[in-house]
Amino acid sequence: MHEAEKIWMNGALVDWADARVHVLSHGLHYGTSVFEGIRAYATDDGPAVFRLDDHLARLERSAISYYMPIPYSREELRGAVHQVIAANELDACYVRPIVLRGYGTMGLFPLEAPVDVSVAAWEWGAYLGEEGLRNGIRAKVASWRRIGPNTIPATAKAGGQYLNSILAKIESHKAGYQEAILLNEQGFVADGSGENIFIVKGGRLLTPGIQCSILEGVTRATIIALAGDLGLEVEQREVTRSELYHAEEVFLTGTAAEVCPINEIDDHPLGPPGPVTRAIQDRFFAVTSGRDRRSAEWLDHVRPALRSPVGS
Ligand SMILES: Cc1ncc(COP(=O)(O)O)c(C=O)c1O
Repeated sequence: MHEAEKIWMNGALVDWADARVHVLSHGLHYGTSVFEGIRAYATDDGPAVFRLDDHLARLERSAISYYMPIPYSREELRGAVHQVIAANELDACYVRPIVLRGYGTMGLFPLEAPVDVSVAAWEWGAYLGEEGLRNGIRAKVASWRRIGPNTIPATAKAGGQYLNSILAKIESHKAGYQEAILLNEQGFVADGSGENIFIVKGGRLLTPGIQCSILEGVTRATIIALAGDLGLEVEQREVTRSELYHAEEVFLTGTAAEVCPINEIDDHPLGPPGPVTRAIQDRFFAVTSGRDRRSAEWLDHVRPALRSPVGS
């Protein structure tokens, strides 16, 4: 990974190598952490964080789901994100805020363990590869199911709930595919291991609805809005596995993966990325690079004044 210089930990910037937690931290043992994956993009006006407020709002909702009071306000966390990007002199980068139950108690009852907060940022290119963004990836439906709505909160982004995504990812990797698609407990399509999924059918977009145990992706919400701008109808409903195989186009969306076409699922070829996927991709990257009328709405520019590190 591309190491940066500084990480924001509990209110101060520390050296990358010193950003450590105790081996008996609660979150390490039981998965009691909530986190976000955010991207900042290079624009003509310097680095700009994409939909930062929406990501921080989801972080707060995830923390509420796990009874974890975040000891910083939304504005303080926003400042921390800006600060860490500026202090590391990053332009396009990935930002990872994490809120975790720290060191102090063991056993399952977590409410007396401290809540620690960190924000890291580093350069991270295309998650599924540049080639994947251009020509699409091969995906496999996993034998592992997406967590059910009554297993743990499916709409939260918590450390522990990535264990099944990780198993699905390993399974697909070992079988020679680049990504896994998880079905939910009812057997309908839910998510990629770290992405939402869209299909094109009859020229319309279909995506699993919130009732399908998906993570409510910030990128998914962005694509639904952009599709509306492009005059494309979007239906949110239950999507079957065989609809994936017969789709005109399929693509994944996520902060890490951005908008990534799928060209084959379970050895059913879907062909090269189609016109709807391309139109959505082009529009998405126009927005993130600051060249779209939607850019001002969704880009939070890092203030140049922050470029000298403060709060450390
Ligand atoms: C399971 C899952 N679904 C969807 C997403 C996409 O969410 P977002 O677009 O907010 O990154 C992610 C990534 O966080 C994820 O882990």
